[in-house]
Order: sequence, then structure tokens, then C-alpha cells
Amino acid sequence: MKRILSGITPSGDGSLHIGNYLGAVKQFIKLAKDHECFLMVADLHALTTIQNKKQLASNIETLILNELALLMGLAEPDLASREELGNITFFRQSDVPMHTELQSILNNVTPLGLLKRAHAYKDKLAKDVMEDEVNLGLFNYPILMAADILLYKPDLVPVGKDQKQHVEITRDIAGRFNKIFSPVFKLPEPYIPEEVAVILGTDGKRKMSKSLGNLISIFESEEIIQKQVMGTYTDPTRIHANDPGHIEGNMVFSYLDFFGEKTKVDELKQLYISGKVSDVEVKNYLYECLLETFAPARKKYQELKENPETVKQILETGAAKVRAVSAATMKEVRNAIGLTDQYSFFEYPVAKRTVLQKGQSLDAISIEDFARVQMRVGKVIEAINKEGSEKLIRLTVDFGDITRTIFTGVRQFGYTPEFFADKQFFFVYNLAPRRMMNEESQGMIMAVDGPDKPLFLPADGMPLGATIR
Ligand code: ADP
Ligand code: TRP
Repeated sequence: MKRILSGITPSGDGSLHIGNYLGAVKQFIKLAKDHECFLMVADLHALTTIQNKKQLASNIETLILNELALLMGLAEPDLASREELGNITFFRQSDVPMHTELQSILNNVTPLGLLKRAHAYKDKLAKDVMEDEVNLGLFNYPILMAADILLYKPDLVPVGKDQKQHVEITRDIAGRFNKIFSPVFKLPEPYIPEEVAVILGTDGKRKMSKSLGNLISIFESEEIIQKQVMGTYTDPTRIHANDPGHIEGNMVFSYLDFFGEKTKVDELKQLYISGKVSDVEVKNYLYECLLETFAPARKKYQELKENPETVKQILETGAAKVRAVSAATMKEVRNAIGLTDQYSFFEYPVAKRTVLQKGQSLDAISIEDFARVQMRVGKVIEAINKEGSEKLIRLTVDFGDITRTIFTGVRQFGYTPEFFADKQFFFVYNLAPRRMMNEESQGMIMAVDGPDKPLFLPADGMPLGATIR
């Protein structure tokens, strides 16, 4: 499977608008069907502009919740039914120190002239800032981005048009490193789908952008979204609802092409051109379509916001996986530049931890990992065969303070729902939620290997919800 990598910086206030969705997140969801996707919250990049602890923390949280809600809420059913995020590994850049380590090494193969040509730096100079005042983080930013990319050897890097130059700089840096030392890095290709390359803002003039305020939000209140839709640029030559209107350059129709139902949109276009439908009616339809499209993501956003542990577990799983991948690249890099001589004792901590890939067997886990497993006594208050499955039984389990749905796949061994109903068992409690068919299951019933089938550990008579140490 080909690999992609991309990142979003938690700048502005960290929230995502429909331009970010169409230009970035929707592409990730599409690519995730048949690509291994590494997606990061590029939090270290935000330091170039945000130097306020509270604001940075809040932006990072907002972006994590916005992006996860879109990825989980809007993924198509075939992705959602696979484990958690399917092919997507979602992580935070600052959870993986290899990014800054590689940046430090790449600094040495990057000529000053290359960075002086970079847009971010040139734009800053063009504004109001003296060259001597530009912070080196901003100047160096393309090298950090090169490190972000090169660590994972992706085939494609999906980005907006404005980031194309940074991917080209990355190729240049990678080529220099490979030539000077040895061919460690793969040269990445930018991936910019044409039809969504730039989504214009509600002013109909400039790119939709947080800093320009010409946006339509995804996670704001319905009132705000409605206001943004009502303020969207249409056809300035049209004074009355029965004047013939223009579709070209009319932002409401541009957005409807993405979010509306095609036959209904075509019909509205005809009516609009012949002056038979008002701006307000068309805008109301856009508003409805937006709410409908984003309803599952808005729901997921609330769920995630109320369950910070779930979010943390997703980030932890993501970080563990990408640390293993980036540590492997860093070993090659250290080797290539001459840091692994006879006096070298350095080992990436991650190398000692077992990070399981699909289909790999587990020989040993560390005592630290084992100690983090939490077991609790739960009572099965309902057990039902999962419709459409030959293996699964759905258990509704009461832990005293919380009720959870937990699936067990033991019908194949002759177990029936009646066996579980109204009995207490031990459960592994602190597992990340998993999608089993079209439902979420969180936790696992404990069993030991029997002669011909698993045997369950009865916990009847023990206090409900008790934690086992
Ligand atoms: P903003 O310009 O609103 O601050 P960012 O620069 O943080 O947005 O962009 C985050 C991601 O969203 C990038 O991948 C970028 O290419 C994409 N993106 C931002 N605005 C648009 C837009 N108007 N059209 C298409 N993609 C966009
Ligand atoms: N600089 C990108 C932006 O502002 C975000 C980013 C950081 C990124 N690292 C990346 C994008 C690596 C692609 C690959 O949009």
C-alpha cells in the first residue's frame, strides 16, 4: 500500500472551515481508502506565530478535536467499520522528538539561498518586518517540514497549492543529503487535486482563510453558520428576486456543487438563471446541506470533547506507531552521517518497545505496558447475538458507575447469550473503543484457554465495578 503524509498547523484559533475540509481533510479521507495515511497536527510549526502558552494549548486542542471529528464522523462506512481510524495514523508532531532531531541534521545540507527563496519568509519580509527581526523558526520552517516528511518516506504529500514549494524544497534537501551521504531518503511528490486546489471565500474574491474571515465554519453554532451562509457573495447585478441571475462566480452555487444534491442543484441553477428563485431560498438550501453533511462530524466532536481519554488514547497509539517508523529512519540517518561508531551506545527508546504491526505475533511486552492494563468486575445486564454476524455476542455491561457495550466473538465455540446474561465477569476496562461491524465496543471480557474452548472467569459475588490489582 502506498503511503501518504500530511499535516495541518494549529494556527489562527485552530478551528477548521469548509475550505480546509474540501482542500485537506476530505482528501485524506478519500486517500485513506487505499493508502496508509500519516496525519499530524504540526504543533511545533505553530510556534513561528503563536508564542502564548494558553493560546497554543487551546489551538492544539481545537485542531485535534476538529480534525478527528471530521475523520471519524465523515469517513465512509467501509472505513468506519474497520478498527478505529482504519488506515489513518493520527499523531501530534511534538510527541515525536525525531522531527526536531532530523531538522537539526538537515540544517547542515541546506543552503541559505534555498531558504531565502521560500514564500513564508519572503511574505514576511514583504509585510512590515525587518530582515534582522525575522525569527529563525520561521526562516527554518521549510527544514522542519522537510524533516516531517522525510522521516516517513511517503509516496505522496497531499497539500494546498501554497505548500507546493515546501515539498519541492524537501525534495531538494533530500537529494542533497542522499548525494553527500547515502540514499536514505525517498523524494516525495506533492499531491494537489485540481478541482479543490483553492476554495474561494464567502467574499467570492480571495481564498477562504481564517485570517481573512471570509469563511464558513464547521463546528460553530447553527446561528453563526447561518449568518456566514447568508453573508455569502452571490450575484451583485441581481437586485430583485425575479431578475435573471448569474451562476458563474456565485459562491453559493460553487459551494452547492460540493455539498448539494446534483439534480436539486441543477434545478435551482435553472430557476436562478430565469429569475424564479430568490437568493435567500438558495442560501437556505445551502445551509441545510451544510448542516446535513456535517451532522455526524458535529456529533462526533461533542463525543470526543466529553471523552478526553479516548482522544488521548488515539494520540498515544498514533505516537507509538510513528515513533517506531521514524526511529527506523533516524537509525539509517545516524548511520549514514557517521554517528554510529564503536563508542555509540545510543538507542531509541521506542526500539525496545514492541509495536505490533498487523499480523505480527507478540513475544513479550514490557512490565510497564502490562501494569497499565486495568481489570474491573462488570455485570452483564443484556446479551444478544449480533445480527449479521456468526461470531459476535453483544454484551451490555454494568460497571456500577458506567454501562458499556462490549462485544465477544465466541458463538463459534458454542456459547449463547443466555450463558452470559445476569452474571458477573472480569473485563479489561481501559481499551480504546473499537468499531465492530457498525457499532462501537469498548473493553474485553476476560477468558482463559480451556481444552476445547475459552473459559470465562466468574466474578459473581465480587463488588460491582471493583478494580483488580
Ligand atoms: P487557513 O488559510 O484558513 O489558515 P491553513 O493554512 O491552516 O488554513 O490550511 C490548512 C489546510 O487546509 C492546508 O492543507 C491548506 O492547503 C488547506 N486549505 C486552507 N484553506 C483552503 C482553501 N481556501 N481551499 C482549499 N484548501 C485550503
Ligand atoms: N506547513 C503546512 C501548512 O501550513 C503544515 C505541515 C507541516 C505539513 N508539516 C507538514 C504539510 C508536512 C505536509 C507535510 O499547511
